[in-house]
Amino acid sequence: MRLPGGQAEKTLISAMNPPLSWEHIRADFPILDQQIKSQPLIYFDNAATSQKPRAVIETLRHYYERDNSNVHRGMHALSARATAAYEAARGKLARYLNAASAEEIVFTRGTTESINLVAQTWGPKFLRPGDVILATEMEHHSNLVPWQLLAERTGASLRFLPINGRHELDLARLDEFLTQEVKLFAFNQISNALGTINPVAELCAAARKVGAVTLVDAAQSAGHLPIDVQALGCDFLALSGHKMCGPTGIGALYGRKAILETMPPWQGGGEMIESVRYEKSTWKQPPYRFEAGTPNIAGAIGLGAAVDYIEAIGREAIWEHDAELTQYALKRLGSIPGLRVLGPPLGTPRGAVISFVLGDAHAHDVVTMADEHGLALRGGHHCTQPLMRKLGLVSTARASFYFYNTLAEIDRMVEILTPSAQGANTAAFSLPLGELYDMVVSDHSRRPRNFGELPGDAVVHVHGDNPSCGDTLDLHVQFGPETVENLKFTGSGCTVCMTSASLMTLKLKGKPRAEAARLLHLFHDQVSAPASVEAGPGPRELGDLNVLGGVRKFPQRVKCAMLAWRAFEQALQEADSGESEGNVSTEDAKS
Ligand SMILES: Cc1ncc(COP(=O)(O)O)c(C=O)c1O
Repeated sequence: MRLPGGQAEKTLISAMNPPLSWEHIRADFPILDQQIKSQPLIYFDNAATSQKPRAVIETLRHYYERDNSNVHRGMHALSARATAAYEAARGKLARYLNAASAEEIVFTRGTTESINLVAQTWGPKFLRPGDVILATEMEHHSNLVPWQLLAERTGASLRFLPINGRHELDLARLDEFLTQEVKLFAFNQISNALGTINPVAELCAAARKVGAVTLVDAAQSAGHLPIDVQALGCDFLALSGHKMCGPTGIGALYGRKAILETMPPWQGGGEMIESVRYEKSTWKQPPYRFEAGTPNIAGAIGLGAAVDYIEAIGREAIWEHDAELTQYALKRLGSIPGLRVLGPPLGTPRGAVISFVLGDAHAHDVVTMADEHGLALRGGHHCTQPLMRKLGLVSTARASFYFYNTLAEIDRMVEILTPSAQGANTAAFSLPLGELYDMVVSDHSRRPRNFGELPGDAVVHVHGDNPSCGDTLDLHVQFGPETVENLKFTGSGCTVCMTSASLMTLKLKGKPRAEAARLLHLFHDQVSAPASVEAGPGPRELGDLNVLGGVRKFPQRVKCAMLAWRAFEQALQEADSGESEGNVSTEDAKS
């Protein structure tokens, strides 16, 4: 098997050793042995975070039961043990990445913090107005927003290497984008939204030719395939422990020693100093210069255990198993009518991530329906909003695999998704809230009432977003002196969002403002009551809106139900202050 990223071809350990028992390996993950909604859990959200084997859980328990102490400070036995284990973990990670030494490994909270560290220390020191930061069109927000902040701070500008129709980087255009002005080139090894594998060694070599520093976002690759930072030739590489069997809140930045030594600290405090006077301090050498304060000691030790665990299986074997699962899933998903997969086509090597769109169903609806069958998928923009926009999508559903997943689980996923796809029937994606709910939701989400714009000067327009799933809604309200004369909306959202908006416009039209505000509060109380409180028939004044009362059982969906109402609340405020335009986000609201 050829490994991505230009690394040498290796003999598979499974070819040399007795075949691995994936079934036995799966048994190392206690969390997988449970029922969700009376069905066996199928965990296909590994790109968000992986599950943890007993070896890691036990290491954490052992650390807290036996060794817990602060590192680098104490003279006593526990501190010595904690320090030794913490530094041993650094050494394990260095060997895992084939770094030249452990001094090239900085512990951070994860990929996001690693990238921010570079953006806040290397960036301001080395970037000038006119310089260019090159990223790609398929970056996670974590490998995009820090560069936007850095560009603002330094006067540098941003460029994005485009993707082609196969959802791979358009390497034919690399020379056009990777010019002499580029000082930093940041890209992922595996895209979390597309599954595309990028040719890291080739990109790093091209960057070196123009003198650009490279940063590899290895969030999706570090736990899945062998990484040799020296063979890849990158300057920085960022990873997250929690995506590779380790605990949350721990990760690492690999930085070439010669570069780390040129970088100033980013956070001041204990541990990172050599000597401190009232006026001025001096810093330790890397990596300690970048680890101010008490670090996540248990996390680092847990990550060390995760590295041991992965190494015992072998990353070549994991990569081969990933490929088997992914190619099988691509083939099987291809048989579902109306299902379209993003990313490189069947037969092309790709990461264990499959994003898909199912008919005209909203990803939120697909994922909620899957959860009713014990299948954990992810739905949304996957922190790649610009990429989604470029592809003309708001969100996708995503299945992502790890070595403990099985072909049988993929078969079950296909079974679960198939009936829903037939006819892309909205009712098939309804929350399980009864017949009346199905009827109302099917009717209003397919044929939303008052859908459209309201022209005219006296109209207040509010744009609403639900950032967690990408729903957007534009509400136009015409207010009379005391009443809500008319209201219409446009937008694209899940069944809950569209039904709620449609019913809301019917309900509020012609109502006195004060009455409309009262209905807003009644509706909010109805959908956001604790899940344990039965929805009941609900207040009579809300009429059909009461069918949405059951949404309280699906806390993630309350924001969907509230988006139109939050926009209306904002419209009332805009009208009171004489404004005609406003914005609202469900992230800013209580629910
Ligand atoms: C490609 C990629 N980069 C960065 C991140 C951010 O990782 P973390 O949240 O662990 O910092 C993720 C997380 O999903 C990711 O998939």
